[in-house]
Amino acid sequence: MVLPALGATTTAPAVEPEINQHYLDADPERWKAVFEREGRELYDRRAQIVDALQLQPGDSVADIGAGTGLFTMLFAERVGPAGRVYAVDISPSFIDAIAVRANALGLGNVVPIVNSQQTVDLPPDSVDLVFIADTYHHFEYPQLMLDSIRSALRPNGRLALIDFRRMPGLSSSWVMGHVRAGRVQVIDELEAAGFKLVKEPLALQGNYFLLFRK
Ligand SMILES: C[S@@+](CC[C@H](N)C(=O)[O-])C[C@H]1O[C@@H](n2cnc3c(N)ncnc32)[C@H](O)[C@@H]1O
Repeated sequence: MVLPALGATTTAPAVEPEINQHYLDADPERWKAVFEREGRELYDRRAQIVDALQLQPGDSVADIGAGTGLFTMLFAERVGPAGRVYAVDISPSFIDAIAVRANALGLGNVVPIVNSQQTVDLPPDSVDLVFIADTYHHFEYPQLMLDSIRSALRPNGRLALIDFRRMPGLSSSWVMGHVRAGRVQVIDELEAAGFKLVKEPLALQGNYFLLFRK
């Protein structure tokens, strides 16, 4: 079942207009070779990243910016048939491919959702954990997305955020040009939106990994 996007909620300008243009009608096979390849830190360390989240069978998780489904599938195995994984992405072709992949793997607990740029389109108080990997810098409306994530989280729910380190003089020119905000600014934005940083569960190199509570 693919749930439709509910549509835009503001006409305010995007902070990163056009950054997602190439994903909207993306070829999932082409991007799978980019996101799920050895040498990408999040792929190489995917097992440790999932372990660090300490998911329990029966948990309800939202993978926001699910891409080709790298983490969605791992979460679905971890939370088991009593749990649920919402694979949320603005790209209909990515979400269609995730639905096919989950079906082929017999993962009936994956719920694919095509969301809008401004809201996760999840029911209120529906998830224990929101996971955002290399996607926060793609949010065109970060404040609106954070408001809708906060309302989708259950009381005391957790938000895990992984994104690129952005260090002038050290990070690549691609990172400096592509990634809007570094770790400190991201923490400020999350705290302003009502999240509290609780820990950094795993040390990564090119990325940082933050865990917040609602
Ligand atoms: C760099 S990819 C990361 C994919 C995946 N999280 C991973 O780490 O393999 C960023 C993804 O975020 C999606 N995206 C961008 N803005 C989004 C938003 N506001 N809500 C949901 N998905 C979004 C894009 O379509 C793309 O699939």
